[in-house]
Amino acid sequence: MGNKFLRLAVVYLLIGVCIGVMMAKQHDHTLAVVHAHINLLGWASMFLFGLFYRAFPEAERSAFGYLHFWIHNIALPVQMVTLAMLVSGDTSVEGWVAGASVAIVIGLVFFAINVWNSTRNG
Ligand code: HEM
Ligand code: HEM
Repeated sequence: MGNKFLRLAVVYLLIGVCIGVMMAKQHDHTLAVVHAHINLLGWASMFLFGLFYRAFPEAERSAFGYLHFWIHNIALPVQMVTLAMLVSGDTSVEGWVAGASVAIVIGLVFFAINVWNSTRNG
């Protein structure tokens, strides 16, 4: 899980900065919120998750780690694609953005429990 998070994090980084450069070049910042969250929920958070799971292998092996990984990595692409559609004017996808966002929060709750469980001693 740790290595998978690290490898996917850098993919988000590359997508995020490409959107940043594209926005700057086109002087159109419509996708700023998508760019921000690809970089923050994708690159920054996922790289931190990866480092955490590398440091605490028992967290990586727990059911919470497994659930966190899959929920985050299924919900985040859905959230980012539908958010891009929403800010571009397609309001029909609002429910998808909301659902994916709630799913990400649930995944993060599993992550938080996992961090607490793994850092109980010392
Ligand atoms: C080549 C790299 C990057 C370029 C060219 C770039 C470009 C941009 C542009 C044009 C905006 C829109 C500014 C606005 O509308 O106010 C923006 C916003 C933002 N960027 Fe980047 N960015 C880059 C990398 C990053 C990275 C690596 C992160 C985070 C780790 C990041 C985080 C953000 C955030 C959080 C915002 C939203 C700021 C706000 O709305 O106040 N960016 N970026
Ligand atoms: C499920 C998770 C999240 C949801 C649903 C969410 C939602 C939002 C919303 C609705 C905004 C206001 C956008 C606007 O300006 O119209 C926002 C802005 C922002 N969020 Fe998040 N966020 C999430 C996670 C995070 C995380 C984990 C970080 C940082 C690590 C973060 C950093 C930011 C920043 C820097 C802004 C201001 C940039 C901008 O407006 O483009 N968010 N977020």
